[in-house]
Amino acid sequence: MDKLVVRGGAPLHGEVAISGAKNAALPILAASLLTSRPVTVGNVPRLRDIATMLALLNDMGVSHSVEGDTVILDPSHIDRPVAPYDLVRTMRASILVLGPLLARCGEAVVSLPGGCAIGARPVDLHLKGLAAMGAEVEVKKGYIHARAKRLDGCRLVLDQVTVTGTENLLMAATLARGTTLIENAAREPEVSDLAHFLVSMGAQIEGIGSDVLKVEGVKTLSAAGGRYHVLPDRIETGTYLTAAALTRGAIRTLGTRPELLDAVLAKLREAGADITTGEDWIELSMPRRPRAVSFHTAPHPAFPTDMQAQLMALNCIAEGVGVVTETIFENRFMHVLELRRLGAQIAIEGNTAICTGVDKLTGAPVMATDLRASASLVLAALAAEGETVIDRIYHIDRGYEQIETKFSSLGAEIHRVC
Ligand code: EPZ
Repeated sequence: MDKLVVRGGAPLHGEVAISGAKNAALPILAASLLTSRPVTVGNVPRLRDIATMLALLNDMGVSHSVEGDTVILDPSHIDRPVAPYDLVRTMRASILVLGPLLARCGEAVVSLPGGCAIGARPVDLHLKGLAAMGAEVEVKKGYIHARAKRLDGCRLVLDQVTVTGTENLLMAATLARGTTLIENAAREPEVSDLAHFLVSMGAQIEGIGSDVLKVEGVKTLSAAGGRYHVLPDRIETGTYLTAAALTRGAIRTLGTRPELLDAVLAKLREAGADITTGEDWIELSMPRRPRAVSFHTAPHPAFPTDMQAQLMALNCIAEGVGVVTETIFENRFMHVLELRRLGAQIAIEGNTAICTGVDKLTGAPVMATDLRASASLVLAALAAEGETVIDRIYHIDRGYEQIETKFSSLGAEIHRVC
């Protein structure tokens, strides 16, 4: 099992190119099921989760070719509208094939995605929405069985904000009969990117970026031969910026979009970082010890849960006390136990973690538990004195492209051992 070995202490300096957003590329690739015409998607990050989604689509009969960061899919034949457990259990986002499969084929058999380290992760809102659109939905022996000759548009009010729930229902609505309103829709930029991709295929969607999406169903979609460019990864961007802040360095992130992570930039400025931005770049320098910041996670445009662990790592070495409240997932503090092994002082009270900054962390062996927790361990290790060995880093390979190469190019002492 691969490990990352990090020797901390060096401030990060230099430039790093940001990859395409994993959480936009995944629904966009799944959306290729909605058409029988070829689909070309650019700026696709090379990640384990992307490979899993392509394997899942291939298993259904959607072939693809890859040229650099561009994926060309041929969804002309779907042999079997089935997403098997052995693939779905390795990536919960596989649930994203449910809506498009049902809309394209009139049926779908998708394994229930299990829970994961950060929470139970139910999909009840996905199923409730599809049923409201006229689908017969049954769960048996660990599989979702959904059927509908053609879905009927209707008004959907989501009980709570769900990113992939919004995405599944949005994709299903594009081929439904009549109008669908999705209220309390997720506003994450990745949802909007999917919507723009669907519009580029001929879908009729209004309200993109708002919490009310209005969809006029059409009979067929086609990618009209265009190449869709996936938006940059705001969480990868925030991760590298936080690493620079935490090591008191100065970096520029390239090929990103500042407006995607306003809440994160606001917190980093509050911590004392000097931040300047351009159309497609963000520069951060932290000439002094960061100040601790308090925040709570919430749906976009508020502070993203996917950056909670990374900002907590910054709080571990900051001046003062930072209070972090996680409101999205019920178990997203797994990184706290590992950060404590590096000397962090963090007390947990329910869904709140109270971080008291220490002058320095000390390297130690730690274990990754989930994608963003792994990132926070890398960040803490970059600031720690001595060597840290991070085990089970297959978690991190799911969401960060060439992480050790990118950090090394910024001056970090980091390498992978197999
Ligand atoms: C998406 O997960 C992201 N994954 C997650 O990123 C991200 O943390 C999350 O949104 C929140 O922003 C992808 O986009 C592939 P939710 P998702 O449905 O859609 C509850 C990462 O690190 N809920 O918005 O699964 C749920 O339990 C990953 O890249 C229901 O109760 O999250 C949670 O408490 C981790 N019933 C809350 O809603 C449902 O049917 C938000 O979950 C659906 C969700």
